[in-house]
Amino acid sequence: MAGIMTDELFTRFSELFYSFSGIKLKEYKKYLMEYRLSKFVGEYRPYQTYEEFYQALLHDRTGKLKKQFVEVLTTNYTYFFRESVHFDFLAHYLKEYVPSNDYIRLWSAGCASGEEAYTMAIVALETIPSIHQYDFKILATDISHAVLQVALQGVYHYSKLKNMDDALIRKYFDFDEVKKTFTVKESVKKLIAFRYLNLMDNFPFSKQFDVVFLRNVLIYFDNREKEYILRKIYDYMKPGGYLILGLSESLVGLQTPFVSLKNSIYRREE
Ligand SMILES: C[S@@+](CC[C@H](N)C(=O)[O-])C[C@H]1O[C@@H](n2cnc3c(N)ncnc32)[C@H](O)[C@@H]1O
Repeated sequence: MAGIMTDELFTRFSELFYSFSGIKLKEYKKYLMEYRLSKFVGEYRPYQTYEEFYQALLHDRTGKLKKQFVEVLTTNYTYFFRESVHFDFLAHYLKEYVPSNDYIRLWSAGCASGEEAYTMAIVALETIPSIHQYDFKILATDISHAVLQVALQGVYHYSKLKNMDDALIRKYFDFDEVKKTFTVKESVKKLIAFRYLNLMDNFPFSKQFDVVFLRNVLIYFDNREKEYILRKIYDYMKPGGYLILGLSESLVGLQTPFVSLKNSIYRREE
């Protein structure tokens, strides 16, 4: 018997999660947390009750359990060419700006398992086949080590590629006949650096970004935290650079210096 997740315990787990990740689980339902944490708690599991698991988290000296806890509670759903209007926009941007700029930097902030960053790289190669000759790089960051591991491997099932034409898939992936998986080719991989980064922490960047994809990530934060993150991102963008949110997201109601364009695209003024 795993014990029950009381409201009080739910609050304590939420607070603990917040202290580890900076993410508030305010829209999270208790049953969802209970379901996700049931991986750790119950008969034949490492902990008999939720309380016992909570105590173990508090006293986790190696940080291993904390890491697993953060990972099961974050949502990492994503796929290639998700909300494709943003990649059309990126293609236009690159066509115009790559040839005339010293350097171009793109950032997939909250990249999950890497599909967004790889799509950015594929778009860059399709738009400017000689992109490797330019000072062009994509940074892809996330708070979850587990998803970053998947991203680094770059091996996906077809379900993640459904938005892509067959010709494009053949061009940029190697198909494994036995495992039925698709591996991103080296020419795409080498345009991207995958790194751990908690958006609530200080940013360690030395260069400014041209385009930042921050899609389907702000949902995790309350308004004050959103404003804090957006301010920091703003400071690390080139004047005239673009910020892209998920299509269902906007900055309405937030105090930010960004100028709103269409399709959840924002701009840092020149
Ligand atoms: C739903 S995925 C979005 C993936 C991709 N951007 C897309 O739109 O398809 C949200 C990602 O944000 C990450 N995330 C949540 N809070 C974060 C934080 N504080 N710092 C960095 N990444 C965070 C999660 O781990 C998750 O992988």
